[in-house]
Amino acid sequence: MKPVTKAILPVAGLGTRFLPATKAIPKEMLPIIDKPLLQYAVEEALEIGIKEIIFITSHAKKAIKRHFLQNTDLEDSLVKNGKEDFIESINPKRFKDIKFTFVDQDEQKGLGHAISLAEPFLDKDDEAVAILLPDDLFIANGKSCLQTLYDLYKETSNSVIAINEVAENKLSNYGVIDASKISRSTFQIHGIIEKPKLKDAPSNMAVCGRYILSRSIFKSLNNIEPGAGGELQLTDAIKDLLVSEKVIASSYKGQKFDCGSKQGFVEATIFLALANKDINKDILKSIQELIN
Ligand code: G1P
Repeated sequence: MKPVTKAILPVAGLGTRFLPATKAIPKEMLPIIDKPLLQYAVEEALEIGIKEIIFITSHAKKAIKRHFLQNTDLEDSLVKNGKEDFIESINPKRFKDIKFTFVDQDEQKGLGHAISLAEPFLDKDDEAVAILLPDDLFIANGKSCLQTLYDLYKETSNSVIAINEVAENKLSNYGVIDASKISRSTFQIHGIIEKPKLKDAPSNMAVCGRYILSRSIFKSLNNIEPGAGGELQLTDAIKDLLVSEKVIASSYKGQKFDCGSKQGFVEATIFLALANKDINKDILKSIQELIN
């Protein structure tokens, strides 16, 4: 089996929930403490050995490109000012030899459409791709969410997607699976539905934003019609894939924050602040003072 070397990160959304902050700054570039939200997902991808990150973005979001490409002018002035210690933070060693590709999605036709735009950038022999939705921030205590999926992919050669249990009143925000148990944390998917009404939800297991999908997903993306919200949905392509291939769900038990919502974004910030040894004592003290 060929290693998975390409990851697709869709980042073309308008970020309306965060206006006015996202008028000039892409939502994915908003920082959680001192790092853009997007960089957390990129680092999670690189940890499994990904060599090319394919951003599906928009021409209006130039800051994303500027962030991931080298900025020699800034590096030169840091050196000139005796601040070379900061170079690693703007041009990390782990980005060396990584290819960053930027594809414009000029029409908002949905997640399925966004993913389909990556197909021309795959190599002939790529058998599967990783997909990370950067709004979902996973803080693993040990193996990352994507690493768990990749290990299962290597073991089974099947497509694998991450799921977690969500409260009934939130199910209609997600893709929801119908599945049977394989082991304590893995399931075989029989059906999947995007943003179901509660009465139509087949379980309380919702798709969270990490996938390793077989290359056939691109064929399936060609077979689908607009679905929930009138958009081309990745979930509908996964449903199409199920006709010919096995797809496994892996239940994620670690911390996950939905940074597409204000609540999730603030919770992630608090969580990471309390995990950061440089600032956690002071932050905890401030929070306690605010509560009392
Ligand atoms: C997307 C997917 C959905 C998935 C969710 C996870 O929805 O379409 O299946 O459950 O991400 O965050 P979106 O958040 O783009 O509405």
